[in-house]
Amino acid sequence: MYTTWNDLYDNCMRCSKCELAAARHNIVFGVGNPNAEVMFIGEGPGEQEDLSGNPFVGRAGQLLDKMLAVVDLDRNKNIYIANIVKCRPPKNRDPKPEEQELCINWLRNQTKLIHPKIIVCLGRISAAKIIKPDIKITREHGIFFERNGTLLMATLHPAALLRNPGNKPAAMEDYFKLRSKIQEICDHTYTESQ
Ligand code: URA
Repeated sequence: MYTTWNDLYDNCMRCSKCELAAARHNIVFGVGNPNAEVMFIGEGPGEQEDLSGNPFVGRAGQLLDKMLAVVDLDRNKNIYIANIVKCRPPKNRDPKPEEQELCINWLRNQTKLIHPKIIVCLGRISAAKIIKPDIKITREHGIFFERNGTLLMATLHPAALLRNPGNKPAAMEDYFKLRSKIQEICDHTYTESQ
């Protein structure tokens, strides 16, 4: 465990623990406010993310930013966004369990240092790794689970919403639930951003 953000970042930038390291252009460490009370966790970088080094910058990311904006959340102000794996799986395949396992300590370390009150998992892979392996996103999205004082919630992955736009209103409900929860338990999430 690294105790400073800079140490964590510098060491993560040198990672070659799994085979994803070989083909990457960039390690996608994360983006946002490391003092945020709310953290979003996706699956892994896609092509645009690999090329830019930033999470959620492709079409799915643009949709995510729009949905966040509706509930006054902004990656440049009051949240932090990272992924289960920090390097792009080839052809956007799901990250393998062993890749997730080898990478997850970076995210665990980030989470320890950020110490968020709420973690939102974007999509099944993230929710299965962080909340519970058998989670059923279609039934259990929008539900808050508590673990060691942190609230965990899954919502549909924005890329899944691009494929099935009919699910957008249901997903948006999750963001409204999130906003209510933030208003209930968070101290700075909205004040810091204004
Ligand atoms: N999908 C993800 O899960 N993460 C990203 O960073 C981009 C797309």
